[in-house]
Amino acid sequence: MIKIFKLKNIISIKDFEREDIEYILDEASKLEDIAKSRDISEELKGKILGLMFFEPSTRTRISFETAMKRLHGQCIGFTSSGSSSVSKGESIADTAKMFEGYSDALVIRHELEGVSKFISDIVDVPVINAGDGAGQHPTQTLLDLYTIRNEIGSIDNLKIALIGDLKFGRTVHSLSNALCLFDNVKIYLVSPPELRMPQEVLIDLDKTNVEYEEVSNIEDIIDDVNVLYVTRIQKERFGDIDEYEKIKGAYIVNKKMLEGKDLIVMHPLPRIDEIAGDVDDTKYNKYFTQAANAVPVRMAILKTLIKNNPK
Ligand code: NCD
Repeated sequence: MIKIFKLKNIISIKDFEREDIEYILDEASKLEDIAKSRDISEELKGKILGLMFFEPSTRTRISFETAMKRLHGQCIGFTSSGSSSVSKGESIADTAKMFEGYSDALVIRHELEGVSKFISDIVDVPVINAGDGAGQHPTQTLLDLYTIRNEIGSIDNLKIALIGDLKFGRTVHSLSNALCLFDNVKIYLVSPPELRMPQEVLIDLDKTNVEYEEVSNIEDIIDDVNVLYVTRIQKERFGDIDEYEKIKGAYIVNKKMLEGKDLIVMHPLPRIDEIAGDVDDTKYNKYFTQAANAVPVRMAILKTLIKNNPK
């Protein structure tokens, strides 16, 4: 049976079914050799990707660019609101309409939830949400799942601890939603009380078979998980900076805690201090592999959306 990918836009992981996720992960596996430059592809030759990054980014933007270039496509765009005409007062809608004229697909990052969805409603080219405020980050989730599948062998039966800023961290929101599509998953939610997982995500988890438990200490769960998924405290999303100062440094994963454990450590990065440097040279470190996996996964996304939706 020929599998097809039905989505035109990637806005929220909640729009995905399990088979959509598996389609992208399988495509990404096939593109590994090209991602690592052991092979070449001209799949997206002559195509242009528009990168509209209103909010800072390193990995997401650079890996989208790398993915597009590995497929012989090209990129245009801006890296902050300040370097676009939005700073002169142009509306996001007008900016997006311009980009639609120039590109075959758009990648959007913005500090406000819902901006990618808004843009997808007014343009005809595929739109990819590369992070909207504290909302969703669906392509990060796809590369997280790809990493879990490669490293652990399966996403079903996973026991994962999501650690840190579960309130503002969009990566953990998307990842929790995605895990609802898999079997026999247990999620430990490890955060300070002020940064607990939002109620709306817990309600989504309640509707599925995913088992979850809110805990406050890493030590309580470390013997029971395959994955520690660590996140930074999202300083820029705090209304009151004193609140951030009180909470920062609340969780730190170090080499000593991990010794003898059968697990991997993941992190969407950037890391501040929540994973000690002494973990970097251990077998537990999968966060740099995870970052590298962004390329085959984003290649799979771009190839699929642009080829399925020619201009
Ligand atoms: C994350 C993001 O932007 O949400 N980074 C990323 O895309 N890899 C995580 C973060 O900023 O903490």
